[in-house]
Amino acid sequence: MKKVILDCDPGHDDAFAIMLAAQHLDLLGVTTVGGNGYLPKVTRNALVVLEQVGRTDIPVYPGHAGPSTHELVTAPNVHGESGLDGPVVTEPVRKPETKHAVDFIVETVMNTDDVTLIATGPLTNIAAALNREPRIAEKAAGLYIMGGGAYAGNWTPAAEFNIWVDAEAAYKVFHSGIDLHMVGVNLTRQCPVDTEFIEGLRSIGAHAATFSAELCDFFSHGGDAHLHDACAVAWVIDPTLIESAYLHVDIELTGTLTRGMTVTDLRFLQTAKRDVDIDLSSTARWDDPPVGSPFRGQAPNTHVAMRLDYGRFVDLVRTTMRNYR
Ligand code: BDR
Ligand code: CA
Repeated sequence: MKKVILDCDPGHDDAFAIMLAAQHLDLLGVTTVGGNGYLPKVTRNALVVLEQVGRTDIPVYPGHAGPSTHELVTAPNVHGESGLDGPVVTEPVRKPETKHAVDFIVETVMNTDDVTLIATGPLTNIAAALNREPRIAEKAAGLYIMGGGAYAGNWTPAAEFNIWVDAEAAYKVFHSGIDLHMVGVNLTRQCPVDTEFIEGLRSIGAHAATFSAELCDFFSHGGDAHLHDACAVAWVIDPTLIESAYLHVDIELTGTLTRGMTVTDLRFLQTAKRDVDIDLSSTARWDDPPVGSPFRGQAPNTHVAMRLDYGRFVDLVRTTMRNYR
């Protein structure tokens, strides 16, 4: 099993990310960050999810409450007042660890080989870890994020929520040199939480499956939701579930309309039309344009998720929930 740390802000789709990671990966710890909700809520929610699936052996480390440069904006419109509205649950018995998430991330990555980082909330903790110990960019086996989008936003027309909330942290991460995999909204739009998905879970009957279906009942908002964060974990579990293109991505910090946009250099994807239409086999490399071309792109820094095998993703989620007893 791959060793991972999951940094998250649960969050309904973060809950699925936790449940997938706890079963299929060696989840060394869950770290929390202010994002969908304020830190005490998202930390409580991480403890709730692990307790619901009987994995109270996995520690939870609270991290930063919000960005260092400005106030945190949360998303109660998406995840409800608790950050995890829907299922009725008992309050977790367990308490979070006293060690700070950033200390845990830095110490674990520096003292353990081949740890993969997964981040499904704003990148505040990951950027702080990279500031504290820049060598984790080399030492970690890689970083998979849910955030951004190749040419799409959701919180604003240009920006996705996790990046928009702490764009400065995202800038730090995208410029760190870490082996970076970006699951943006161009990918997660291929992962709907629709009636078929929800009823497929409910029909399983096991506790975790019913809990998951009830999360989706709230999160689906009558039909227009996507299971963003679970896609990033699924990519780590099974790299064949997602096809990607290796591209240059940078973070817009100053745009008046585009702050938080993951500006993705798609110029040399010759058949780029819309997300699912991109023919990856014709991906032109950044160094393909003739020398001297004014359109010569910058070196790739990000594996950008492009196409999801949704059928096999749904199988993975169903099998996971069936296996929790
Ligand atoms: C992201 O924002 C949050 O609301 C979700 O948990 C996900 O990480 C989607 O933009
Ligand atoms: Ca999230």
